[in-house]
Amino acid sequence: MNILLCGESVFVEELTSIITENNHNVVAIATSVAQSADFLKTSGYDAVLIGFNEEESYALLQDFKPDNHIRVWVSIIDFNLNIWKKFATLGAIAISRGTESESISKYKPSELNTVSSKTSINPDPEMEQIKKTDRKVRQERLEAKTAKVGVLKNRVFSVYSPKGGAGKTTVTTYLANIIGKHSGLKVCIIDLDHTREGSDIARKFGYFLVNDSPPNNVITNWATFPERDYRSWDKVSQYVTETSLNNLYFLSSPWNVEDVEFMTGDLIEKVTHILKQHFDIIIFDMSDDLRDNNTKALEISDNILFVTGADLDQIDISSGFTQRTVRKLNLPIEKFRLVFNKVPNKIPYTLEESAQKIGLPQFASIPYDPEVEKYRTTKLGINEDLSKTPFGFAVYRLAQEILPEGAITKKHNKRPWFLRLFKRKGVV
Ligand SMILES: Nc1ncnc2c1ncn2[C@@H]1O[C@H](COP(=O)(O)OP(=O)(O)OP(=O)(O)O)[C@@H](O)[C@H]1O
Ligand SMILES: [Mg+2]
Repeated sequence: MNILLCGESVFVEELTSIITENNHNVVAIATSVAQSADFLKTSGYDAVLIGFNEEESYALLQDFKPDNHIRVWVSIIDFNLNIWKKFATLGAIAISRGTESESISKYKPSELNTVSSKTSINPDPEMEQIKKTDRKVRQERLEAKTAKVGVLKNRVFSVYSPKGGAGKTTVTTYLANIIGKHSGLKVCIIDLDHTREGSDIARKFGYFLVNDSPPNNVITNWATFPERDYRSWDKVSQYVTETSLNNLYFLSSPWNVEDVEFMTGDLIEKVTHILKQHFDIIIFDMSDDLRDNNTKALEISDNILFVTGADLDQIDISSGFTQRTVRKLNLPIEKFRLVFNKVPNKIPYTLEESAQKIGLPQFASIPYDPEVEKYRTTKLGINEDLSKTPFGFAVYRLAQEILPEGAITKKHNKRPWFLRLFKRKGVV
């Protein structure tokens, strides 16, 4: 039996050995409620064992509709009949902490199937019909909800460069803006650059250190976010900052540089799992300084946009990173997407040659545009006039490339206006 194990680290550690001793497999381990919610959405397991505190386990299961063939156990410390009933309504079996081994070893999936087929010899046809319709409606609702975004739901990207000033923050903000504007997907930028006072991303949206107040939230505040509320947008929205741009939110890095010690890898993981429940796309703006916390972000990203300039020094630094550091960090190179930035009109060698040196195929190329770094006078650090320039088009193409086909489209009606008119009247 393939078991998904969810709970605090002590619980999962203990249960992992118990499960394997019983000759079952632990297919995945989730140590936070939000991470569990993520894993429950995947497949490849026949049973789930959950061992958070009662409230958290209950919150987690409210969202999860297990398939009939998946067995769900919840391990409870203060087990009683009422709790058993409460979980039974969610399709889960509450068991007393310490008896997990017993329940797991007793459970035989094949036996259960025969039992259930015996009991359903005379199924009530009316009830069967209701069940069928209910399943269909649920499926349709789910499809409608995810039709637009398809498989791209909950993508996590990081924008990284081993050299400062390559354009990570610029690429992050323009890219996030384009995704939010043209796909209707909800985007959250998480600023993980802890190397300066304040937050570069916050500055892009008009929050300055001097004579101004910080944005209403910074990543370190998430340490006190109650995990059981991970589904509540009311709560979560108080922990991120909305921008003036469509569908775009951000989370600032620690406002004081010395607070970086609280921005741990675990915290980044917790925040990401929770935000994934509310945002379609999460983009990390990184610093070049790779500490534990930043490497955690690279680890949990689906893709890493690897930004590099096109001059010899930067190419050398970038190839050093892909050929040495990536191996040391044990990161899968397939996740990396090479993005040339600030590419001048003329260079004495081709970008293909540079890409070869770096050891990654060229994924995108963004030209140098003096307007990007033009003296800034407005509080919004994005210049929307650039959308029709080669710079704007390049970022637009990058957004198209990193998302599945069709996610980024200009809104247009495919049918000519006169046909649409006819259709409305019922002629066509
Ligand atoms: N395509 C571009 N054309 C012209 N200027 C650019 C371009 N991309 C970025 N810049 C400019 O380069 C400078 C550095 O960019 P940015 O702050 O985005 O880099 P970064 O990699 O985030 O830097 P840091 O490592 O300091 O966080 C900024 O002045 C920015 O305006
Ligand atoms: Mg930056």
